[in-house]
Amino acid sequence: MRRIIVAGNWKMNKTNQEVTDFFTQLKEEIKSLNLNNVSPIIAPPFIYLQNAQQIANDTEIKLSAQDISEHDFGAYTGEVSAPMLKSINVEYSIVGHSERREYHNEIDMQVGIKAQKLIDNGITPIICVGEKENEREMGMTESVILSQLKLIFDEMKAVDPTKIIIAYEPVWAIGTGKTATPHMAQEVHKIIRQWLAKNISNEAANQIPILYGGSVKPDNFEELLSQKDIDGGLIGGASLKIDDYMSLLNTATKISK
Ligand code: PGA
Repeated sequence: MRRIIVAGNWKMNKTNQEVTDFFTQLKEEIKSLNLNNVSPIIAPPFIYLQNAQQIANDTEIKLSAQDISEHDFGAYTGEVSAPMLKSINVEYSIVGHSERREYHNEIDMQVGIKAQKLIDNGITPIICVGEKENEREMGMTESVILSQLKLIFDEMKAVDPTKIIIAYEPVWAIGTGKTATPHMAQEVHKIIRQWLAKNISNEAANQIPILYGGSVKPDNFEELLSQKDIDGGLIGGASLKIDDYMSLLNTATKISK
């Protein structure tokens, strides 16, 4: 049985006090949930990771970065590396988010290099793929996703399925309020799983959690999660409010696959 992941991507939001308040409240409220196989993960901006981690220390809440450098150390002003994250015990990092691709011109090859850097440091990458609106309109969704997967995984060595997460985030659904219908999302998740079976291993296809991201909200999460190949969410806007995030976690605990 694959675990259900409820990953909040906070992007560039919140002050330190707001982070403290959120985590303090989350730590308290989460006690009322029986998490079973549900994994709560939050990705705040880098500077808040340690503060958040200290508060979440003895709970099931895990921390994620939102990106990392392709390099380990050196003259790369403004960058943060996988070994640095490892040194503060961060367990996850998003890579290849569409906002990194769009505003920082990141390409699939870099995403693969970053994912491998994370794996080398014992950190689980949350690898994002997704098509743009015009690509979907042109019927290119499948070819775009498969090409992203190939170019990313080409940069990665032996894949341990227990140490990788994939997130399918259609770019046109991110922050727009337009969610892919559960059926549309399931179709792509199935394509990703089939690709993993064919190109990596059956074990990878069975074990790697594939998250859906793009305008996930408390009122659409249950239907998305009820799809066979959707194992959780990568959630932006709705993860910023404690009530919404708790509601997403609550929904996840009720669904078991
Ligand atoms: P959203 O963002 O939930 O606000 O659409 C998702 C994401 O960008 O990961």
